Amino acid sequence: MEDSVEVILQDKRSWVSHRSQDRPVITAASGALLMGCYGLWSVFALPGFRRVPVPYLPSSGVQTQNIMRLLRGRAGRLVDLGSGDGRLVLTASSLGFQCTGYEINSILVSYARVKARLMGIPTTRARFVNEDLWKVTNLSGYNNVTVFLAPGVMEVLAKKLEKELGDDTRVIACRYPFPDWPVAETEGRGLDQAWAYDMTSVCKPST
Ligand SMILES: C[S@@+](CC[C@H](N)C(=O)[O-])C[C@H]1O[C@@H](n2cnc3c(N)ncnc32)[C@H](O)[C@@H]1O
Repeated sequence: MEDSVEVILQDKRSWVSHRSQDRPVITAASGALLMGCYGLWSVFALPGFRRVPVPYLPSSGVQTQNIMRLLRGRAGRLVDLGSGDGRLVLTASSLGFQCTGYEINSILVSYARVKARLMGIPTTRARFVNEDLWKVTNLSGYNNVTVFLAPGVMEVLAKKLEKELGDDTRVIACRYPFPDWPVAETEGRGLDQAWAYDMTSVCKPST
């Protein structure tokens, strides 16, 4: 009985080792695919995880339209905090805003700069800065702010913006609203919803 069990086990072992030897190409291809996925993830998503969990996810066309609707009638300087591939900055600059995008991922910053150049938009109208938004200490020069980040950062971002923004500023949040601010206007539904907040109505910390 023990002998027959041993024979069966040996057969199984040799079958397993033959199977992996038979398919070296498949094994290598699976390994390469996994490495590729990890590489892509680390290039595009990981930089956003350094401080806060905010991966790269571009605004949809509908979301972009909703944001631009909430900016109707406004002008001046606009900042997109976490500007990704630059789509919000480039759309807003084509509407006359003087825009800056802060983005932690240097590859996305380079991509956005090339796109701006190809679209013929000068850096005076659309500027992309490779910087951690939490290290930008003074946003008071911007009277329009757009953010599409993550739910877990909205409360702490609200505290930062309350300290730094002037009363004439409108802040647009995409997909994830600020938990405690009074909403001035909203556009869209579901994943494409955007909310506008006017800093005049937001309670600021006493200085
Ligand atoms: C959800 S995407 C939005 C991209 C773009 N605003 C759009 O609407 O298409 C968030 C972006 O914020 C960037 N990001 C995350 N943390 C950041 C940080 N601390 N400083 C600057 N950018 C950051 C990510 O790399 C990512 O590109």
